[in-house]
Amino acid sequence: MTIPNEIVMLAGHPVRRMGFGAMQLPGPGVFGPSRDRDQSLAVLRRALEAGVTHIDTAQFYGPDVANELIHAALHPYPEGLVLVSKVGAARSDTGHWLAAQRPDELRAGVMANLSSLELDQLPVVNLRHHSETDVPYAEQLDVMEAMKAEGLIGAIGLSNVDPEHYRTATARTQVACVQNPYNLADRSGQAVFELCRADRVPYVPFFPLGSAFNPENPVLGSPAVKEVAGRMGATPAQVALAWLLHQAPNVLLIPGTSSLSHLEENLAATDVVLDQEALDALP
Ligand SMILES: NC(=O)c1ccc[n+]([C@@H]2O[C@H](COP(=O)([O-])OP(=O)(O)OC[C@H]3O[C@@H](n4cnc5c(N)ncnc54)[C@H](OP(=O)(O)O)[C@@H]3O)[C@@H](O)[C@H]2O)c1
Repeated sequence: MTIPNEIVMLAGHPVRRMGFGAMQLPGPGVFGPSRDRDQSLAVLRRALEAGVTHIDTAQFYGPDVANELIHAALHPYPEGLVLVSKVGAARSDTGHWLAAQRPDELRAGVMANLSSLELDQLPVVNLRHHSETDVPYAEQLDVMEAMKAEGLIGAIGLSNVDPEHYRTATARTQVACVQNPYNLADRSGQAVFELCRADRVPYVPFFPLGSAFNPENPVLGSPAVKEVAGRMGATPAQVALAWLLHQAPNVLLIPGTSSLSHLEENLAATDVVLDQEALDALP
């Protein structure tokens, strides 16, 4: 089976399956300024030059850092670039991740993204669920729908959702994509993954490489992943990304990196075709 970097429709926009996640561009812990601003700008420009058409971001990455870098590196945006953002979180002064699910907070999040990215409309905005909120999910969806009707957002995606959220959302609105954690070492999102596959809704796994938050990265550090990578002449990151692409045609990737060499490595994962021996050996 081949795994081409083919085009998939995302909210009516054609995007390549290999995209880019901007969360690693701010400072450590996704907090504060970039460690190397010039390199961050270069990573974004190189991603586009290499054919990336889908970038995932959020105003709360930094906060206010990732979007500023995207604007500085890429504005005016080339035709065909789809910037996907998300709302439903905020940061404390010390970098803690806070819920921001109230309708006024969701609206403020969209307005901040429009302003920092200098867009009239955000093509897709993911409603990021937070378990520590007392705002009913339906109420959150209502304000997303209202902002779509006003033309502020082109389409609504979901993030951090369970099957019940997914069914609630799809019954009320057209869901453009779902962004949940999913990788070789974390299948907690399997049920939602299956729903998306059946509905042909783009599924965008976050933490595709096992995340920067866990120093003992269970994906890149996995002996099985390393063994397969060594046998195939690939890197562990490429094996992890190729495995995700292999799972279903509706999978879109947004690996995050602040490094030019890692970016090149990740982009080349679309050329790695896992054989049956590799698939059997992986966890
Ligand atoms: N919806 C949500 O709630 C949510 C949550 C988390 C993330 N996201 C999105 O999903 C994207 C991906 O997730 P993520 O960035 O958190 O985690 P990830 O892609 O699983 O992993 C990023 C980590 O892997 C490292 N890395 C990247 N490429 C590598 C390579 N080729 N070899 C070795 N290490 C490599 C990065 O370090 P270097 O910078 O040194 O390369 C960073 O430490 C994010 O950028 C963000 O856009 C969304």
